[in-house]
Order: sequence, then C-alpha cells, then structure tokens
Amino acid sequence: MSFLELAKARYSCRMLTDATVEPEKIERILQAAIAAPTAKNLQRYTIWAIKSPDAMSKLKQTTKFTFGAGLAFVVGAKKDGAFDRPFDNKNFAEIDAAIVATHLMLAVQDEGLGTTWVGWFDAPKLQELFPEMRDYELIAIFPVGYPAENAKPAVMHTKRRELSEAVVEL
Ligand SMILES: Cc1cc2nc3c(=O)[nH]c(=O)nc-3n(C[C@H](O)[C@H](O)[C@H](O)COP(=O)(O)O)c2cc1C
Repeated sequence: MSFLELAKARYSCRMLTDATVEPEKIERILQAAIAAPTAKNLQRYTIWAIKSPDAMSKLKQTTKFTFGAGLAFVVGAKKDGAFDRPFDNKNFAEIDAAIVATHLMLAVQDEGLGTTWVGWFDAPKLQELFPEMRDYELIAIFPVGYPAENAKPAVMHTKRRELSEAVVEL
C-alpha cells in the first residue's frame, strides 16, 4: 500500500474489539512513533502504553471514548526542555508530540488495527490517576484494537475540503 493509500484508508475507528493485540505489532507501532522528528531532536514526549485491565479501567474514568479497546496509548508533551523559538518564545513540545502521535496513529492503520485520535478526556483526572503524567501536557489518547466487524467510517470522514480550497499557490 502506498502512503497515499494508507492515509486515505485511515478513518477514526470507533468500534473496536478487545482481542489481544500482538506484542510485535505494539513494538512496530511504537518504533514508528519514536521515528518521528522533533524540533532540535529534543524528544520531550512520553508515550504511555495502557495495557493492564487496571490501567484501562482508570483511563475509562477520564473519557467516554475508548470504543471497546483493551489497549490504549496516551501521548504527553513536556514543555520543560523542549525547543523554544527565540523570536517569540513559542514552545514546540506539543507540536513535537503531535507528530509522534500522528506517526503512531498511521502505524496502527498499517498494522491492520483501528484507532481514533481522542482529545476529549479529563486531563487533570488522568494526571491524578497516573501521577507519572503530571509534568506533561496530555495531547491525545489512542484506544487501539482490531476493528469490529461492523466498524465503518463516520459521515464526517468523507468531508474534506477540496485541494483548491485548502492549498493556496503563491
Ligand atoms: C486533535 C483531534 C482530537 C479528536 N478528538 C476526538 C474525540 O475526543 N472523540 C472522537 O470520537 N473523535 C475525535 N477526533 C476524531 C475526529 O473527529 C476525526 O478525525 C474527524 O472527524 C475526521 O474523521 P476521520 O478521522 O474518520 O477521517 C479527534 C481528532 C483529532 C485530530
């Protein structure tokens, strides 16, 4: 599958099974994530792999969007130590973490699994339940699993602006 085909085949999969995801798939997904570029290569992010039933049940207390998955990843950005652009002091931690998260999301697709980028979650509660996340901006949760038999893209998936509207040639 070409990259364009992969990018177009991906959709927010909101019906997952809790069938075990093979460790080698998890390993490849995480390898793809850490291959992401970061500003000045500072890599100030952490990916938490939520694997145990106890950790999953804590995660479920913070969001309604877990879609039946038995596995999830949380991506956090650490502002402290990330690149600060000198002209305007813009901190790049969240940009870096979003690139990592995008690699992860597309790698999930590449493994024949499904996920959705979840931004709707109670971040302070997540930090209370997982104190190791306290020093981070929590940018995304990815519930991951095999797509359920009747999983399909939502209507929104088909709605994209035309190239002519999204891209301006100068
Ligand atoms: C930053 C971000 C946050 C999102 N948060 C949620 C969320 O909390 N719950 C959800 O069901 N979908 C969430 N989505 C998925 C979007 O709704 C979805 O990507 C968009 O509608 C396009 O559909 P598609 O992913 O199927 O192409 C999020 C996507 C992004 C990029």
